[in-house]
Amino acid sequence: MITGPDDVTAAVLAEVERATNPRTRELLTAGVKHLHAFVRETNLTEAEFQHITRIIAKLGQLSNESHNEVVLIAGSLGVSPLVCLQNNGSGDYETTANMMGPFWREGSPREENGASIVRSPTAGDPIFVTGTVVDLDARPVDGALVDVWNTSGEGFYENQDPRQADMNLRGTFVTDHNGQFSLQTIKPAGYPIPVNGPVGDLLRAQGRHNMRPAHIHFLINKPGYKTQFSQVYSNDDPNLDTDVQFGVTAALIGCYVKHDGATDRAPDPGVTGTWYSLDHRFVVEPGDNSLPKPPITGKAAVGVPVSEILQRTP
Ligand SMILES: [Fe+2]
Repeated sequence: MITGPDDVTAAVLAEVERATNPRTRELLTAGVKHLHAFVRETNLTEAEFQHITRIIAKLGQLSNESHNEVVLIAGSLGVSPLVCLQNNGSGDYETTANMMGPFWREGSPREENGASIVRSPTAGDPIFVTGTVVDLDARPVDGALVDVWNTSGEGFYENQDPRQADMNLRGTFVTDHNGQFSLQTIKPAGYPIPVNGPVGDLLRAQGRHNMRPAHIHFLINKPGYKTQFSQVYSNDDPNLDTDVQFGVTAALIGCYVKHDGATDRAPDPGVTGTWYSLDHRFVVEPGDNSLPKPPITGKAAVGVPVSEILQRTP
């Protein structure tokens, strides 16, 4: 019989014991304990409780085929990066794994190493990317598929931007016997995450901006190795220390080197102005190479998204 606050927690935990799956029981037990502890620690009021339930409902109501507010707030609260770091790497080395992000599309065109993935005229400076994939013993991993995608110099992925060709700035490469791959793309720009829902309210309440620092995404896949999603951040971005999704780690700050085409010849002789180069090393670990369900499937038919940009308070 429930007669007071402590009885409620005990009653719920007793019911959790009925779950037959041990992992389900473990997750539910810890979840109930932490939730109840939160209510006690904060002396949560009835009005605050109702407010929180409205926020959680809104997260679901705003989520659809092309937008996931739940994933967005998980990143904005640092939960997704924590899960990533807890499940990749070890005390011996810093992992190059990072969040998948909401813009990975399956089936980007297969390209030869060195090829350009600029498929239509695109704003931004050219960048020549080389990468090396190694295992935990620093041995090159050959024959790995490396799927690459990034925004234009205006901060839009092709699926968001009807002006860009289908699969622009997306392509899949294969590592050679040295574990290396190479390509040409456009130097990406940072971009704002949407702030028209609970995530925006969260950021405004804290005086945070809503920017992600510029980055290039990589997805490395080879049987025998754990699928690795990675993002390599631009070392010249002003928001590296305040990424709204807490994704930047030391191992993922890339050395984006600026070159003057007049004095420094680009790998592509057609490039005569400013260009960039980036070389990065990825460490993969043994494991399952299955792929998750892609978060998006195609291009948006409407115009580029207009996202409000929040300023960080001093
Ligand atoms: Fe991204």
